[in-house]
Amino acid sequence: ATHTIVDQSTCIACGACGASAPDIFEYDDEGFAFVLLDNNEGSAEVDEDLLDDLEDALEGCPTDSIKVSEHPIVLEEV
Ligand code: F3S
Repeated sequence: ATHTIVDQSTCIACGACGASAPDIFEYDDEGFAFVLLDNNEGSAEVDEDLLDDLEDALEGCPTDSIKVSEHPIVLEEV
C-alpha cells in the first residue's frame, strides 16, 4: 500500500502537486496543499491508478514537502 502526506510546514503553496495529481492533492484557503483522500492524515491508501500522478507530484514539488511511504505516515508536530 502507498500512503502520502503534505508537510505543510515546508509547503510554499506553489501549486504543482494539484496540477500533477488533482485526485490526490487539494489546496486550503491559503493555497497550501493537503491530501484530499484523508484530509492529510497520512492514513489512506493511494489507489494504484493514481500512483503515476503521485510520482509526478513527488518529483515536481520544489520543497520536497510531499512524503510517501508504504506505511501510514505521521509527521512530527513542530
Ligand atoms: Fe506545496 Fe509542494 Fe504542492 S510546495 S503546493 S506540496 S508541489
